[in-house]
Amino acid sequence: SIISKGKDFLQLADFSTEEILHLLDVAQELKAKQKKGKPHSFLSGKVLGMIFEKSSTRTRVSFEVGMLQLGGHAIFLSSKDLQLGRGESISDTAKVLSRYVDGIMIRTFSHDSVEELAEHATVPVINGLTDLHHPTQVMADLLTILEHKGKLSGLKMCYLGDGNNNMAHSLMEGAVKTGMHISIASPLDYLPNAKITEKAMEVGKHTGSIVKVTTDPQEAVKDADVIVTDVWTSMGQEEETEKRLKVFASYQVNEELCKHAKNDFLFLHCLPAHRGEEVSAEIIDGPHSVVFDEAENRLHAQKAILKLLLA
Ligand code: CP
Ligand code: NVA
Repeated sequence: SIISKGKDFLQLADFSTEEILHLLDVAQELKAKQKKGKPHSFLSGKVLGMIFEKSSTRTRVSFEVGMLQLGGHAIFLSSKDLQLGRGESISDTAKVLSRYVDGIMIRTFSHDSVEELAEHATVPVINGLTDLHHPTQVMADLLTILEHKGKLSGLKMCYLGDGNNNMAHSLMEGAVKTGMHISIASPLDYLPNAKITEKAMEVGKHTGSIVKVTTDPQEAVKDADVIVTDVWTSMGQEEETEKRLKVFASYQVNEELCKHAKNDFLFLHCLPAHRGEEVSAEIIDGPHSVVFDEAENRLHAQKAILKLLLA
């Protein structure tokens, strides 16, 4: 494998184009095996510990099912029940869990916490979402686009809404690594993280990806092959909900706005979605939407990550 066993999966910027494309290959192989009912117990006897400090439907279930299908097992660890929630340090938690499990997945708030966990863990750590990144989701997104479009390089992706969130950042990193162009449209106070943007633009110079950040949704959507959005209020920002509903109103993905995209555009959303807010029902429930293929692909993409990191 070109991905070294024991490596962490914290953000897509840590992986080369080759590594990301290889993960997508393996995901497709594993998906085919699972569909044909062929055994693929590459992680027989291995255990993944999964720490959740935020809610989850897809991430929890897809990792748990994925480990089972690979012949291993997953343990759901809510931070409310762990001693972590009563003040035990991240480093002690990392050292202790590393004595029991073969890998740790964590969903939390601060990205620094995940870096700290990875630093002290002696087993691979997988980022299951932080405030800054959502890399496993974007691997599923890339797999979905590849399946529906037959390629990634040269396509134009457009992301609308909260540019300063985990999805926007990971999409930017994933797009530039795979040669996709990406245009992000957000209100001025919600533009993507400047460092992540600069770094993505730098990577794009080598892979031929053009990265654009604008406040104009029409400009971003123009000729897009793929339109992506995400919730306007991410987990942990609930007290800003009212304000955000107003600020993001003109960034809703709806039929009017999508007229500016290519005729055969795909619509992606990591889910959960709020119909009538970031996306209209006619778009997310309409013919361009691939959101349930995308949700399914969490399973296949993560099985590839697990196989390459833990096997
Ligand atoms: N898309 C995603 O990560 O979903 P969950 O919050 O349900 O895990
Ligand atoms: N940006 C969203 C993604 C949910 C999967 C959040 O962080 O809540």
